[in-house]
Amino acid sequence: MSGILCFRNIGQLVQADASTQPGIRLRKNCALLVEEGRVLKILKDSEIKSSKSYTKVVDCQGQAIVPGFVDCHTHLIYAGERKDEMVDRMRGATYMEILDNGGGILSTVKATNRATEKELFDAARKRMKRMMALGTTAFEIKSGYGLNLNSEMKMLTVGKKLRTTLKVPVTLTYLGAHTVPTGKNQEEYLEAIIESLPRFRDLADGVDIFCEKGVFTVADLRRLFLQAKLLGFDLRAHVDEFSHQGGCMEAAKLGALSCDHLEYATPNDIQAMRATGTTAVLMPGVTLFLGGEKHPLVHSMLDAGVTLALATDCNPGSSPTYNMQTVLTLAASMYRLTPEQALAAGTYGSAKALGAEKMYGGLLPKQRADFNLLKTGDYRDMFYYFGENFVDATYVAGKKFKAPKEPATA
Ligand code: NIG
Ligand code: FE
Repeated sequence: MSGILCFRNIGQLVQADASTQPGIRLRKNCALLVEEGRVLKILKDSEIKSSKSYTKVVDCQGQAIVPGFVDCHTHLIYAGERKDEMVDRMRGATYMEILDNGGGILSTVKATNRATEKELFDAARKRMKRMMALGTTAFEIKSGYGLNLNSEMKMLTVGKKLRTTLKVPVTLTYLGAHTVPTGKNQEEYLEAIIESLPRFRDLADGVDIFCEKGVFTVADLRRLFLQAKLLGFDLRAHVDEFSHQGGCMEAAKLGALSCDHLEYATPNDIQAMRATGTTAVLMPGVTLFLGGEKHPLVHSMLDAGVTLALATDCNPGSSPTYNMQTVLTLAASMYRLTPEQALAAGTYGSAKALGAEKMYGGLLPKQRADFNLLKTGDYRDMFYYFGENFVDATYVAGKKFKAPKEPATA
């Protein structure tokens, strides 16, 4: 819609701004003006003169507005479910044991390789719409369930189509190094991924690797990242999740945009992230779902001035959730973050993890007008009455998203 849209009578409006502490600016009884899908300005509600000055006026009835959530780490393109594996874990098997026995990621690889591009697209589109209905307005999506050239390309082609169809920012990441496919030699497989990198330049913005005992080593991460960096890919890495391998230190030193998981990262690793301005992506939903007890050293990260980001890690094995509201409330309770710190991490921090903090995440003037109108006048309700869906409406570039009625099991 052309012209200026006016959202008035906003009880609380939250902006995420790294130049403030704790990263949130709170404005009360205000109005938000949107022009051409971007934030034009925020003014006091009493300054709104006549509705004739605007193309459209929306009365927010005292409800709160927060920036749209940025889900900066997902594996949302996949086929199949892994409910049996969940039950096996409840009976005592660990996530890594299941993978070592040919299940876990490898079982999703089988299902994803069998699925057509259209089937993957339809399922992922449904998931993304559900995630948008719950407040997410920007995504990162990884490949990694193909583990061969054609199938990895198929996943990323689906990612590109999702970006154009849903008209939201989508960052794509080539995760060929998710795990070693059944029957392949690790060295040779990694070499093949490194050789394939130029062919992914048009399909992916970044490259990722799962660095873990029994999966890929720190030396593998280094080899892959050196080449990926030369080709201009952003670097992000699954590191120090189930054990301390030193992947965070190495990835940070090589200039990774983000280091993700980090349950076993040490104070030295945190210093390395601080030195290179690497963002720490935390995913408490994984810890909850896998029943883990180890948390990252979140407060050492904050003290060191490392930017925190939050993400769902949406995937069928370790975090089948679509809900960033849940992730934010878990982060607040499990890591002892204030609602403001958690909100800043799930908006500005996650945008920074994608190198996109100037474009979106803050609801600041000139940024994309991606935001959530909440069902309450106090954004802290989301953290207090945890488990509720507080998103009344999601706005993407100033336009109300038509939320699907589908069940959340797609
Ligand atoms: O980020 N840790 C490795 N990869 C994913 C899980 C993928 C899966 O289990 O399918 C993660 O947790
Ligand atoms: Fe992941």
